Amino acid sequence: MIKAIIFDLDGVIVDTAQYHYLAWKRLAKEYGLDLTLDQNELLKGVSRMRSLEIILDLGGISLSKEEMERIANKKNGWFVEYLNEMTPEEIFPGVRDMLRSIRANGLRVALASSSKNANKVVRLLNIENEFDAIVDGTMIVNSKPDPEIFLLAAKKLSVDPASCVVFEDAEAGVEAALAAGMKCVGVGSAEQLGKANLVIAKTADFTLQTLNSEF
Ligand code: BG6
Ligand code: MG
Repeated sequence: MIKAIIFDLDGVIVDTAQYHYLAWKRLAKEYGLDLTLDQNELLKGVSRMRSLEIILDLGGISLSKEEMERIANKKNGWFVEYLNEMTPEEIFPGVRDMLRSIRANGLRVALASSSKNANKVVRLLNIENEFDAIVDGTMIVNSKPDPEIFLLAAKKLSVDPASCVVFEDAEAGVEAALAAGMKCVGVGSAEQLGKANLVIAKTADFTLQTLNSEF
């Protein structure tokens, strides 16, 4: 029986995934690389440093640890600039009501984001009080596809992993959820998220009836 729902943030609750892409694309351009949307799929859900390693690998570029730290900070500066332009209305349609109705039906709700900016995004959207637990990139050692973040979220909720459903827009996130022994709803295209138990186009397409019939 499902007792908790764990939400990824970027790309599931709000379209901050586009801001990550814009910032990485801008950085890659400085190194002569045109980062495509397909390549960007590899960056979703993984940590900032791991994303940079993937981009450098794609371009066959090798940089010192110090230079990598410097340019990862630069990318984050741009990302935060985009965030500062964001308004609470950018939360995906229906998601705020969805979070409330899940809790009103007796289920626990957590947020599990690899991002170190997750708290800032949550504050900007004014959704701090919609979760029973929040786990972010500052609290974990291994980012998705490692299951650590979801296992920590389940622990904070005091719910068994097998009783959790995760919402994810990233392939790495789907893998992490399954590796945690949880069920997973992919938000996006079945082509990218085919390993999930169910794929929906938009987060709010999911209803409690779907939960009861699918899981
Ligand atoms: C994830 C995003 O939520 O957070 C990734 O899907 C991002 O694209 C990762 O790289 C880390 O984010 P941040 O804000 O710590 O650089
Ligand atoms: Mg995401």
